[in-house]
Amino acid sequence: MKASRILLLAAAVAIAAPAVAFAQSKSSAKSAAQVKRGEYLVVTGLCHDCHTPLKMGPNGPEPDMSRMLSGHPEDMQLPPAPAPSGPWIMSAAATLTAWAGPWGVSYTANLTPDPETGVLRDFTEEQFIKAMRTGKHQGQGRDILPPMPWPWIGKKTDEDLKAIFAYLRQIPPIKNKVPEPVLATAQ
Ligand code: HEC
Repeated sequence: MKASRILLLAAAVAIAAPAVAFAQSKSSAKSAAQVKRGEYLVVTGLCHDCHTPLKMGPNGPEPDMSRMLSGHPEDMQLPPAPAPSGPWIMSAAATLTAWAGPWGVSYTANLTPDPETGVLRDFTEEQFIKAMRTGKHQGQGRDILPPMPWPWIGKKTDEDLKAIFAYLRQIPPIKNKVPEPVLATAQ
């Protein structure tokens, strides 16, 4: 290679490098803002209400943030749910993570990025959006059971659902294998 060519190449690299660094810092600023927005949507969208177990505190039940968004605790064994009676068709465990009703018994999912037990471990962003829009597991599997309010969550914009997904991907992973639901037809 001629000396002049090498010089040209060096100049091109010198110009490109800061441009790449700038683009990278711009995209990490964008993803930090997206995660912050996701956190806001998760907190105000009541996800903790069902996906973070309640524990008994000095003033009554309070969310157990050491189990943040990790779903129904696997070590909580439950007796059979009470039979529905009259207009009282639903019951919930003290943690608000297990629910019984005409569909059977459902357990809230582990939304943390634990590689073995997190429900979203194999989800792409598209599959998460599709699950919230269609009410099908991973956007293609079995029906997502009550009381998961997917018909309302699915009304959010793509941008908001992407922000929720981005936030959930980077919260602390918690290993907790949530039991499979028990369908009423199998009871
Ligand atoms: C009223 C209770 C309740 C609230 C509020 C709630 N969930 Fe759920 N969620 C559930 C239950 C129960 C399940 C398990 C359903 C099942 O096993 O079919 C579930 C399952 C899920 C799943 C797994 C879906 C799949 O494809 O299998 C995701 C993801 C999820 N919830 C995200 C959220 C997010 C995000 C929010 C807040 C915006 C939220 N949930 C709020 C009860 C709730």
